[in-house]
Amino acid sequence: MTERTFVMVKPDATARGLSGEILARFERRGFNIVGLKKTVMTRAAAEEHYAEHRDKPFFAELVEFITSGPVVMLCVEGEGAIGASRTMMGATNPQDAAPGTIRGDYALDLGQNVIHGSDSPDSAARELGIHFAASELIG
Ligand code: RTP
Ligand code: MG
Repeated sequence: MTERTFVMVKPDATARGLSGEILARFERRGFNIVGLKKTVMTRAAAEEHYAEHRDKPFFAELVEFITSGPVVMLCVEGEGAIGASRTMMGATNPQDAAPGTIRGDYALDLGQNVIHGSDSPDSAARELGIHFAASELIG
């Protein structure tokens, strides 16, 4: 089934100049990049984006980090885009991420783990709604 998902290159990775390499992986896989922008997330958007983690002990650190510098936001479209993107990203903790995955190839730190991807169809719709206007998605 053709799906759209929200993928984001996090501030650690933009600072390291990895945005292009990461974007290229999604293009080479065969996905359509139907939305793309570089921006600094506002605190309000970050708190909404990570609302499910509001009560976790790491929430403040998470919001601080994700707003600390530019991110590259993508809307990735294609067959099974939501699950396939998560598989490409690898485990949340990069120390557990398999080589060949994005986190497995580029990261070691749980907090600074390079990339975000929506974890379900509901999350994808919700997150795309937070970060993209419909007019910014070019199908
Ligand atoms: P993400 O939302 O960033 O794509 O990552 P995820 O689905 O793989 O992981 P999630 O459970 O949604 O956690 C969001 C981010 O919070 C940080 N985290 N820190 N200190 C901790 O125990 C802890 N647990 C999670 C990670 O940076 C994770 O990406
Ligand atoms: Mg998550």
